[in-house]
Amino acid sequence: MQYFDNVLATIGDTPLIKLDRIAGEEIPATVFGKVESFNPGQSAKDRIALYMVEQAEKEGKIKPGATIVEATSGNTGFSLAMICALKGYKCVLTVTSKASPEKLAMLRSMGAEVVICPADAEPEDPRSYYSRAESLARDIPNSYYLAQNFNLNNQMAHYHTTGPEIWKQTGGKVTHYVCCCGTGGTLSGTARYLKEMNPDIRIIGVDAYGSVLGKYWATGIFDKNEIHPYKVEGLGKTIIPDNVSFDLIDDFVKVTDRNSAFRARDLAKKEGLMVGYSSGSAMEAVFKIKHQLKPTDVVVALFSDHGSRYLGKIFSDEWMQEQGFLKEDSFDPSSYSYRYRNFKRIYKVYKRKYSRYLRQTLKI
Ligand SMILES: Cc1ncc(COP(=O)(O)O)c(C=O)c1O
Repeated sequence: MQYFDNVLATIGDTPLIKLDRIAGEEIPATVFGKVESFNPGQSAKDRIALYMVEQAEKEGKIKPGATIVEATSGNTGFSLAMICALKGYKCVLTVTSKASPEKLAMLRSMGAEVVICPADAEPEDPRSYYSRAESLARDIPNSYYLAQNFNLNNQMAHYHTTGPEIWKQTGGKVTHYVCCCGTGGTLSGTARYLKEMNPDIRIIGVDAYGSVLGKYWATGIFDKNEIHPYKVEGLGKTIIPDNVSFDLIDDFVKVTDRNSAFRARDLAKKEGLMVGYSSGSAMEAVFKIKHQLKPTDVVVALFSDHGSRYLGKIFSDEWMQEQGFLKEDSFDPSSYSYRYRNFKRIYKVYKRKYSRYLRQTLKI
């Protein structure tokens, strides 16, 4: 018989997939995606949720019948809800109003209680999802606040799993690791392992316009003026999490909502890879660093989650139009409606030219 004891045993060992079609001739290097949607909870957060819960159990911080509380952009919540369902804990999650309806439905499907908090509340505001998680953990008896931003077991999960996997899968040939930065766990933990194996590997962090991380890395200044709303979920921060190890990062690339959305759509269309919004950000960052790359380089871009969580967002033409990313009359050029309208336009031009030719030259 070949089976796993339970779904948690299938976490990790996600595939590395070559991205020839999207990288094409534009990127002068071999590019791979580390596709974390192959985890049972369809995101990299399965790794950290399991590791943080099991470490806390070992340390006696989580007791039977406990309630686990977390502030999450959705994915950690989903992984945690899955783990709590299996281990018999209650799960209370605070999320921002930015989280997609699909994500909220998924959290509730696993029995988690979801508390929605305003996305624009400052972190120290009692209404923010961080403050609400802290106060809930204080108020609920026998509860444990996982605190993925500050719990260093977040990055240790990636140090022990994602890093060694990438090293092994590339046969030690990886030269660039490109990864979105939110809590910093995926970036820092993996980077720490890879740098230990080869200090020359370049670590490229990816940040959003509207987040404080990039400027903090470049200048050491926490600049509140950097903060403004943006759309990519999970990418960037308005606080400085302990899990971002700034000393490990060689370059921090900022990406826009618009380009991230189109890259994610391209990954689906060109590679058949339905990955999430921030995966589009990681892919966009690879394009932004293409001038640093040479043919012998091996780039690994980490794709954090699955595209099905964004059907009502980047994979919806209506949503793309609402954001001003797609003009109503400029649909995807490969679509039939676009080709049909284009054909009609060209046909009209030629009809006009031909009748003028008949009139003027042949006098018909
Ligand atoms: C979709 C998505 N992408 C990227 C990230 C960033 O990962 P990390 O928190 O490990 O920095 C997150 C984290 O919430 C996420 O949910």
